[in-house]
Amino acid sequence: MGLNPNHDMRTYLIVTTIALMLSSCGESKKEEKTALKIGQTSTQVEAPSGTALALSGNDMMQFDKNELLAKGGEKITLTFRHVGQLDKRVMGHNFVLLKPGTDITGFANEAASAGEASDWIPNDGVQVIAHTKMLGGGQTDVITFDAPEPGVYDFICSFPGHSAMMRGTLTITE
Ligand code: CO
Repeated sequence: MGLNPNHDMRTYLIVTTIALMLSSCGESKKEEKTALKIGQTSTQVEAPSGTALALSGNDMMQFDKNELLAKGGEKITLTFRHVGQLDKRVMGHNFVLLKPGTDITGFANEAASAGEASDWIPNDGVQVIAHTKMLGGGQTDVITFDAPEPGVYDFICSFPGHSAMMRGTLTITE
């Protein structure tokens, strides 16, 4: 009597095999989790973080919106389009985001004096947070800039005579 050595060996092998299957199963689950984490991280890196804004100007000297909204601490990408047909020397449009406390009328007068040579941005842009190029009908400019501190900021078109009608605010939230 006594234990059958073959039987014992078979039992040992079966138990060992199951244990291996279980452990390898656990490992592959771990790998899946790791792969998922890596995938998520790279998605976050690739996705453009921040706010995408779109604004346009037309041949009637109008922006399509006068209120823009973005979140503080993020990049802002603004796509600005002139959806009209008139030349930029006749009906030029830009987007000029002014620093807090800038007098719009005073700035617009200085912009008119600065003229085409400085693309209608006076004083080397010291009063400006960000701006696009001056555009004519059919043209588009895309700019990216860091959102300023939370608050309300004026934006205008600095083409002579346009800021009276072409103005609005960009609100930066917390
Ligand atoms: Co304009």
